[in-house]
Amino acid sequence: MLDTEITKENLNKLVVTFYTKVLKDEKISPFFIEKLGKDMKSEPWQKHITLLTNFWYTISHGRGEYNGSPFAPHLQISGLNQEAFQTWLKLFFSTVEKIYVEDIANKFKERSSIIASNFMRNLGI
Ligand code: HEM
Repeated sequence: MLDTEITKENLNKLVVTFYTKVLKDEKISPFFIEKLGKDMKSEPWQKHITLLTNFWYTISHGRGEYNGSPFAPHLQISGLNQEAFQTWLKLFFSTVEKIYVEDIANKFKERSSIIASNFMRNLGI
């Protein structure tokens, strides 16, 4: 059964499932491994997972615990290109489709596409 509402629990599932796919992807895993390592159970990964769960909660509810600067760390990642963002979006889309009903999945797809476009524009790629 697909979820019909967005909760902290299913956002955590979204984030963990997404990064499990990311770490298996040969194109984009190196960017994450360089900053956070290979082990999703490690402290840096657990912090990242909590941060991103809060990020998506805040985006989807219009309020929440995330008050960081989402773009800033991406400036420190060398070699980012359009292809990497396309892969990121492909993995994110396939994850939201498995968790949420179509309406909600579409909203995540729209929001993530807009953010990815903004990031690429800011990076000049
Ligand atoms: C190829 C594309 C991307 C790559 C390789 C990437 C990689 C990363 C990495 C390695 C970090 C951790 C940086 C650190 O802690 O030093 C990070 C943080 C983050 N990413 Fe991405 N990212 C990508 C696209 C995106 C997109 C499209 C979004 C949003 C839709 C996003 C949202 C975030 C957020 C919210 C953080 C945490 C920012 C903070 O510290 O407050 N990323 N990303």
